[in-house]
This record gives sequence, C-alpha cells and structure tokens, in this order.
Amino acid sequence: MFIEWKDENFSLGIPTIDTQHRELITITNQLHSIVDKENQQKEAIRILKRLYAYTSYHFTSEEALQKEYGYPALNGHIAIHRSFKGKIKEELEGVRDKLNYPLAPIQDFLVEWILKHIKGEDVKYADYFKEKGIKPETHFSISEDKRSNILDQWEHQQLELEIKGIDDQHKELIYILQQTNDLQHTSGSRKTIYIPVIIKKLFYYSQFHFSYEEEHMAKNGFPELKDHMILHKGFIDKVRHFATEYGQGFTELTDEIIVFLKDWTIGHILREDRKYKDYLIDKSLNR
Ligand SMILES: [Fe+2]
Ligand SMILES: [Fe+2]
Ligand SMILES: [Fe+2]
Ligand SMILES: [Fe+2]
Repeated sequence: MFIEWKDENFSLGIPTIDTQHRELITITNQLHSIVDKENQQKEAIRILKRLYAYTSYHFTSEEALQKEYGYPALNGHIAIHRSFKGKIKEELEGVRDKLNYPLAPIQDFLVEWILKHIKGEDVKYADYFKEKGIKPETHFSISEDKRSNILDQWEHQQLELEIKGIDDQHKELIYILQQTNDLQHTSGSRKTIYIPVIIKKLFYYSQFHFSYEEEHMAKNGFPELKDHMILHKGFIDKVRHFATEYGQGFTELTDEIIVFLKDWTIGHILREDRKYKDYLIDKSLNR
C-alpha cells in the first residue's frame, strides 16, 4: 500500500515528530516500490534495516519528549514501540532466511501499524501536551557564549554537496551534533534525560544515513564504495561503544567525545562524501 503524507490526516502539530513520521512513511513507500518485483531480497533487507534504524531513532526521540514532559502513559507507549521493533526484526529474519519471501504482507502490515499508531497512540500524547499547554522544545537553551557554531559551519564550510536527500540528512546529523554540544552546557533534568538519548539518536541516525548514502553510491556505480563503507562501519562501532557506556549509566559528555564526533562527521563529509560528489560530476561530464 502506497501512502501519501497529508498534514491534515497525520500531523500532530509537533514539527520534529511530524518530519520523522513522514520519513517513516517514505521508507515504507520504498518497500512498496519493490513488492511486486522478483529477486529483491537484498534490497528488501536493506530497506528493512533502514526502517529499523529510523524507527529506533524516532522512538528514542518520542519517548524522550514524553518523559521530559511527564506523559503519564509513557511506559505503555514504550512497550508498544518495543513490540513493533520486535516485529520488524522478525520480518527481517524472514526475508533473510528465504528467497522470494512475500513482501506485500509485510509492507501492508507496516503501513497499517504506523498509521494506526500515529492516529491512535501518538495523537494521545500530542493531545496531552496541548491540554497542558506544553509546547515541546527541541533545542537546549544555553547562554550565547557557550553556544557552539557547529550549525553555522554548515554554511561556511561548504558542507552542502548538492545531492538531494543526502544534504538534508547531513544537516540533521550536524543538528544532532549541535545538540550534543549544547547539552554539555545545559543543567538540570533535561541534561540527565537527554545525554543517553542524544548518543542513541546519533547511533541510529547515522545507521539510517549511511544505509541511504551507500545505496545511492551503489546505484551510481561509485568505485570507492567498499572503502567508504569501511569508514562508515568504523564510526558506527565507535558510537555503539559510547552508547553502551551511556546505557550503563555514564552521564557526562566529555570534550573528547564531542570533539571526536564533530571532527569525524565534518571531516567525513568534507573529504570522503565529497569524493562521491566529484565522481558524480565527472560522470555527468563524460556522458
Ligand atoms: Fe510516532
Ligand atoms: Fe509512538
Ligand atoms: Fe554522509
Ligand atoms: Fe559517507
């Protein structure tokens, strides 16, 4: 089932969450585009893995908001999220185990679940926020002198590659890094809630982004894809290591971690992702 996003049908009025719901629907539409084709096992695995990463990213964001603003049904909501993630994993195993595993029922299930969940469960917390007059803040307010310029670097360092989709994702990554930096200077309960959350978000979002980028590169025959994938994997392993530490109660964001995340990401876009852009330019010139 192909789904067209319509604000009037699906919007909760919380911009970051709406954007995430829209992306979830985009990914299920990608699965829809291959359901009737043969030999799509590899592609289906890639899409389901990407869906898993993005769903995890979205659920982490949503649960943190609910926790911060004291949503009373948080635990039930978390349980529902968990069972959906379990279901994606199950389907992923199914697709992995069997060639030509039917994809249409999976896709129908995913779409139905996501829409029902947004219009049923997610609407409930959005209504709760409205009732209480809560306008969820998604940035961390800190004093001007402590504010980092990571986001400004977006413009100044020419991080933009002019590749649709990839640029937006890089911007989101940079935004997560900005939040990581700002959080270090925040105090109070937001800091305690969000430190483990932000590392988890970075972990899942980079998985989602790398998967998308690698697919883009593969489709265009980028010759250095293998080496590029090794770099991505190295970063994921490192962030997984941090995420484990935060999961075990480590609650400070050290300069060392922030500098590593920032330097790696910006350096990677400027040097490695740019190679792909140059390749695309060469390719179009030699056509
Ligand atoms: Fe949601
Ligand atoms: Fe939800
Ligand atoms: Fe990238
Ligand atoms: Fe990359």
